[in-house]
Amino acid sequence: MLLINGKKSSMKEKSLLIIGGAGYIGTVVVNFFLKQKYKVTSIDNLLYGQKNNIKIFNNNKNFSFFNIDLRDKKKNWENSY
Ligand SMILES: NC(=O)c1ccc[n+]([C@@H]2O[C@H](COP(=O)([O-])OP(=O)(O)OC[C@H]3O[C@@H](n4cnc5c(N)ncnc54)[C@H](O)[C@@H]3O)[C@@H](O)[C@H]2O)c1
Repeated sequence: MLLINGKKSSMKEKSLLIIGGAGYIGTVVVNFFLKQKYKVTSIDNLLYGQKNNIKIFNNNKNFSFFNIDLRDKKKNWENSY
């Protein structure tokens, strides 16, 4: 799991990209930062993680999920959160 640091999207808002966010540790980290009022973007290729793990976050407006493989060079995911 990899965290990419909080990029300030406004003066008061912090955002975070979590790679592997549908995995065991990833979901715990997503939950932690949502509680801290971060905007959390989670990417996971769902190789080991499951959508079922993140369904509890689906109604949280500060959470978004993308099914992306970190190794996919065609996707400019780093600039998309
Ligand atoms: N109930 C428990 O206590 C429990 C349950 C599961 C795991 N564990 C332990 O937790 C540790 C592992 O947890 P974890 O969270 O690191 O592993 P994990 O496999 O749960 O999470 C890693 C996540 O990264 C994703 N991923 C892998 N390659 C990727 C890629 N190229 N691009 C995008 N996403 C990618 C996987 O799909 C997965 O969701 C182990 O020590 C395991 O034994 C404990």
